[in-house]
Amino acid sequence: MWRGKPLLEGSRQGSVDGKSNVSNDKELVHKCHSDPGGGRALGAAPRTHRHRSASGALRKCVLTLDGYSYVIEQGALTIVRRSSSRSKTESCSTPTDEQLDQLDLETEHLPAVDTPDACDKAALRLRYLLRQLNRGEISAETLQKNLQYAAKVLEAVYIDETKPAVARQQSAPTLVFRRLADEDDELSEVQPDAVPPEVREWLASTFTRQLATAKRKSDEKPKFRSVAHAIRAGIFVDRIYRRVTSTALMQFPQDVVRVLKTLDEWSFDVFTLHEAANGQPVKYLGYELLNRYGMIHKFKVPPTILENFLGRIEEGYCRFHNPYHNNLHAADVAQTVHYMLCQTGLMNWLSDLEIFATLVAAVVHDYEHTGTTNNFHVMSGSDTALLYNDRAVLENHHISAAFRLMREEEYNILQNLSRDEFREFRTLVIDMVLATDMSFHFQQLKNMRSLLSLAEPTIDKSKATSLVLHCCDISHPAKRWDLHHRWTMSLLDEFFLQGDKERDLGLPFSPLCDRNNTLVAESQIGFIEFIVEPSMGVCADMLECILGPLHSGNKSGTNAATEPTIDENSGAESVNKFKIRKPWITCLSDNKKIWKEQATKDAEARANQEQEENIEVQPPPEE
Ligand code: CMP
Ligand code: MG
Ligand code: ZN
Repeated sequence: MWRGKPLLEGSRQGSVDGKSNVSNDKELVHKCHSDPGGGRALGAAPRTHRHRSASGALRKCVLTLDGYSYVIEQGALTIVRRSSSRSKTESCSTPTDEQLDQLDLETEHLPAVDTPDACDKAALRLRYLLRQLNRGEISAETLQKNLQYAAKVLEAVYIDETKPAVARQQSAPTLVFRRLADEDDELSEVQPDAVPPEVREWLASTFTRQLATAKRKSDEKPKFRSVAHAIRAGIFVDRIYRRVTSTALMQFPQDVVRVLKTLDEWSFDVFTLHEAANGQPVKYLGYELLNRYGMIHKFKVPPTILENFLGRIEEGYCRFHNPYHNNLHAADVAQTVHYMLCQTGLMNWLSDLEIFATLVAAVVHDYEHTGTTNNFHVMSGSDTALLYNDRAVLENHHISAAFRLMREEEYNILQNLSRDEFREFRTLVIDMVLATDMSFHFQQLKNMRSLLSLAEPTIDKSKATSLVLHCCDISHPAKRWDLHHRWTMSLLDEFFLQGDKERDLGLPFSPLCDRNNTLVAESQIGFIEFIVEPSMGVCADMLECILGPLHSGNKSGTNAATEPTIDENSGAESVNKFKIRKPWITCLSDNKKIWKEQATKDAEARANQEQEENIEVQPPPEE
């Protein structure tokens, strides 16, 4: 799994020259792009090639590196170790009598068993043994030693059965070499924490003898027995794999790529993304995030289905032309959730499925928002309020409508989840989105605070991700002023439109919805002081509580976004306590200051206006 570093840079810039080494493939369309870091880590410059079928669909990507070919084809990865010293025809031919006559059966200087040369040697020896057995001219010891060697060679090799039988007959068999256990020691050269969990799991199933079907518990870090080379190559191939799936199946406009380079920043500018993405920020941001966290790969989400799904979700957000609860808000919340996952290290505490659920929950959390509040639904007796009995009306709708969409085949991004995975995913998404109902806010904070006050708190994954999503949902006052100000104006536009409806329906105004009687600056100061600041505070405490133990077991792999010694609130040094970085603290304080200045000006303006009105209504002095 990708961890914290954007892959976009390498994936959409620069190129590497090279020729195809897969002769029976169709036309070479264009070269893969290089990843500067990944390529260099392995020494020699890699060569990558992508091939398209007549229909234009991407068929194959071949990367040649260090004598191995990494073939990514229709989602499957095959690793071929190539021998430059012989051709395919040679390797397939039966040895001649002359060759057999010249054979020396010594077993001291044989090639390593997991090499193509070993295959040749073993085959030749088996042929020889057969001939000698027929002739009755062989000692038991020679027979035993040579059979032993041949058996080891066969154990180290298997034939790629994923290819159809016909294809296997037509081309030379693809030999995949499993690395042997005695090389496991090299693993100690590699920092375990340099390897993201997905990559680790993938490596374990691909490069070692661990059963691919063995299920790991969601909390358990996968153990793998492999070699340093396999890990380095594996990380590189994994990057290439993700790049192939993302660049091949959904093209990102250059402007979007440029904006997405800042995706890891706290005050990411989603408005700029919206412009660059031609009004489709959810489509690109959603795709990019699910790809970066390896979710497309891990949960076998068909890329076209994902594109369809994100497209429909985006449309749903635009249905009511809301000034605030639209596709920009969805993208904004998803990006903020991403910040929390990757910049605090929360992703290391969550399983793949929990990360997948959290990202999808963020994307769908206000799906088909009507631009009116729950209160409006209840007071106006809308169909949705009737359906959900006045409880969490909108939130219930967002979830229900999103799952209804995913039930349709062409939008079903969950189609390759197992029954258990689906149930867990669904429960998590429901919990998280229901917890975005603001009426649950104080209860949620109170529950978490009392949990954190325990000597040894056990924090539920669903409770933690729910609090994170809730905080991200109300996080714009904690972003840079220009962003926060723009969001506030949009939200007030939406509230005022609701106020207009309430007036037309003869309903009382909901708070902040009367365009002629709302104290904007004051309301924002209150929202920051009583809602956002406490929420971010509890959320940070929770993250530090969760991530502290993970961090103490990983002193060497310091997370760039953590500051283990200084408390930003008090400025005091707290020696052993793990702290996350909190960029929101400065933003909240800056924004509050600006609103306070604004509130003073507004109060003066109101006083002046009142004075003028008093003068106007006063009768002229008697003569
Ligand atoms: P929603 O996005 O559904 O969930 C969080 C809610 O917080 C949001 O709807 C708004 O109703 C409310 N909210 C967000 N920002 C502000 C703000 N600046 N002032 C007042 N309420 C807000
Ligand atoms: Mg909502
Ligand atoms: Zn929201």
